[in-house]
Amino acid sequence: MKKIALLLSCAAVFLLSGCRESMTDLTERVFRQAESDFVLLDSHADEVNLPGSVNPDGSFQMVKPSGWTSGFFPGCLWYVYEYTGNEQIKDLAWKNTLKLEPILDPAKDVSHDIGFMVNCSYGNAYRLTGDAHAREAMEAGAAKLAARFNPAVGCTKSWNDRNPRIFKVIIDNMMNLELLMNGYEMFGADSLKAIALTHSRTTMANHFRPDGSTWHLVIYDSESGEVVKKQTVQGFCDDSAWSRGQAWGLYGYTMMYAKTGEKDFLRQAETIATYIIPMLPKDGVPYWDFNAPGTPHAMPMDSPGAPAAKFAALFTGEKVERDASAGAIIASALVSLSSLTEDAHASRRYLRTAERILRSLAGPQYLSAPGEDYGFLVKHCVVNLHGGAGIDVPLPYADYYFLEALLKYRGLK
Ligand code: GLY
Repeated sequence: MKKIALLLSCAAVFLLSGCRESMTDLTERVFRQAESDFVLLDSHADEVNLPGSVNPDGSFQMVKPSGWTSGFFPGCLWYVYEYTGNEQIKDLAWKNTLKLEPILDPAKDVSHDIGFMVNCSYGNAYRLTGDAHAREAMEAGAAKLAARFNPAVGCTKSWNDRNPRIFKVIIDNMMNLELLMNGYEMFGADSLKAIALTHSRTTMANHFRPDGSTWHLVIYDSESGEVVKKQTVQGFCDDSAWSRGQAWGLYGYTMMYAKTGEKDFLRQAETIATYIIPMLPKDGVPYWDFNAPGTPHAMPMDSPGAPAAKFAALFTGEKVERDASAGAIIASALVSLSSLTEDAHASRRYLRTAERILRSLAGPQYLSAPGEDYGFLVKHCVVNLHGGAGIDVPLPYADYYFLEALLKYRGLK
């Protein structure tokens, strides 16, 4: 009897998996859609600016080369070129990468986001073509980011403040360290690696709560290096877990372990993963904040740092926004972490979770129909719900990490 039950359940699994699209077919379908959609997306931007998002009135939004998301569309094009070998896409990738030239001007002050901008655009250009100018751009970008390092604090600075004693560091900065580590690998600049290591260790000490979740912003005294305050800016409230912040932390420590072999970074990445995975809804695509009203772990509306009353209508708890961009970042990080962890059980869990997210993002709920949404791929992202901006929109960083995760997944097999 037991044998028959076992045979029947095996047959059911076989039939079900037989009906399911393979990850190889899913990847092919998404990249072929991207190959045509990105030609359309490129056509909506002018000669100077890049695709940014969609405005609340439905019009197309562009981002300036100095905007923090400017590097993602060129990066998406490089990933599509990598997959398809399509020379027209390569030309578009170069055209869009070179739109970022103004930010390389040594006289121009840039933000900590130079890591995103330069690494995703010129970094991928260099990786795929070995081009000398892309290499110079990486060197210039890394130098600009390194200039934001403060040894008293042990971090690179995020947002500038009028008061020079106020030194703000957001968890997002972990992502910009990849530019420094690539700079170290490309140019043998030990100082770049030292900054990345110190920033990672300081952030590990001060940004995380005991459960592995992270504050968004830590404010330091720029002279003493003391922590002054921990709070949110884009999350629901000061002590909540803004999902994109958790995603940046997971990706940042996974990348830092991959590049340095420092075991503390692997442990930190696994602690973050252990926090995130049970917080994900059934389809794997995160709520915009894991503690937003309406979620299973909601924090009250009167929590310190919660949004202003004028946004109360956004927080009735009836519809909880998802942030598909956080899902894409988490999926990409988990694919990497699955091959880095020393725990076979954890590895399977990371990969299963990544696959669950990727299948959702590639499904009709999250993937735009071909030609829709100006050619952006992933729908239902959030820029800053706390501030009432960019709610339920497509974003180029969702597309970037989605494509990256699929390429990495393909590389595993
Ligand atoms: N780095 C800005 C954001 O994640 O919104």
